[in-house]
Amino acid sequence: MSELIGATMLTEASATARGLADLPPVNSDSLIALIGMVNADPRPDKIDVGVGVFRDGAGNTPILQVIKEAEKRLRETQVTKAYLGSAGDKRYAELLRPIVLGEHAGDDRIVGLQTPGGCGALRLGFELLAAANPKARVFIGGPTWPNHPPIVRAVGLQPVEYPYYERGQGAIRFEDMLESLSGAAPGDIALLHGCCHNPTGADLSEDQWRQVAQVVADRSLVPFVDMAYQGFGRGLEEDAFGLRLMLDTCDQVVAAQSCDKNFSVYRDRVGSLWIKTPSADASATAMAHVYQIAREMWSMPPDHGAACVRIVLDDPELRARWLVELTAMRDRINSVRKRIAAADPRLAFIGRQYGMFSMLPLSKDQVLKLRSEQAIYMADSGRFNVVGMGDAQIDRFIAAVVGALDA
Ligand SMILES: Cc1ncc(COP(=O)(O)O)c(C=O)c1O
Repeated sequence: MSELIGATMLTEASATARGLADLPPVNSDSLIALIGMVNADPRPDKIDVGVGVFRDGAGNTPILQVIKEAEKRLRETQVTKAYLGSAGDKRYAELLRPIVLGEHAGDDRIVGLQTPGGCGALRLGFELLAAANPKARVFIGGPTWPNHPPIVRAVGLQPVEYPYYERGQGAIRFEDMLESLSGAAPGDIALLHGCCHNPTGADLSEDQWRQVAQVVADRSLVPFVDMAYQGFGRGLEEDAFGLRLMLDTCDQVVAAQSCDKNFSVYRDRVGSLWIKTPSADASATAMAHVYQIAREMWSMPPDHGAACVRIVLDDPELRARWLVELTAMRDRINSVRKRIAAADPRLAFIGRQYGMFSMLPLSKDQVLKLRSEQAIYMADSGRFNVVGMGDAQIDRFIAAVVGALDA
């Protein structure tokens, strides 16, 4: 019978068959298109502040020394590459747990697992939320990382924008944000950047986090905290303030975390997903769903990067050296911020922001002119990576931006 139905459907389908050649064009992520433009520009003094990776004073993204050491140990000691299962490296998640959750690490209502980067954690978390409540709307700040809305739409949930940032003022539209979140219905999801807001660099103050947590709790919303840059802002502990406050305040919390930036293992795809429900039993059930969804999407996360992070975190000496390397990255971010902020009062706001990104108060035309005339590449929105350039390029960058603001 089922074979017959299958045959009928095949005949009907072939009458209106569409093939791969019928696919519509894709409006690709503008940041991906920007990488292509930078690579195609032959000018030797080009400045690429569109890129989303940390660069040191020499303009490179080196492999951390602790990761090099971990890779050496992994090569020498690994005896099998047999499957690990959908949870990935369980020891990795265990070691990460106190770093992400802090004082909540012992809470058995919170479960977590390894994911392919922060992006994999976002997709998996939203898939789970969509399975639990397909009607939930996802409140997303504007502007946000361009991959957030497509991920939300891909799982069948509806994104709704809440105002977050006023570019002209370099300030968070906090009252508007609260008002918008207050209009969300119970069960709706509030997507929040844990720290180092991408693209604006404008993080909520501790007091603002408290007010947001209150609204989220009062409205029975589910906070989804995206923490891709822990340690790049004020410090590992400080950067997790917002997430931990949500865990204090709410029964249901989802968090996506990434080690791709703070261990500088971007292409190795190292992240984790954390879920809190009202009970340990409900969390175990949620986790069973998570394993099943992961199995359908990527089956198992890639091992190499997470194994290296596990080796670093499992060894007190390597862990201490990682903290030194992480601090050096953070210090560079903050010192370049100060240097740019000191150059012109119109750029002073950059010194009050955190993480790799800020948005310059430039029009799209001005951004395009910087690209064509000065070989300076940033996103159309004026988002730039403060550590996208080496030390030698900073003065030219500042002069070009100030020139554009004066024009
Ligand atoms: C806000 C935000 N969330 C998540 C991610 C994803 O990070 P990953 O490279 O670990 O997937 C990024 C990466 O740029 C990001 O900026």
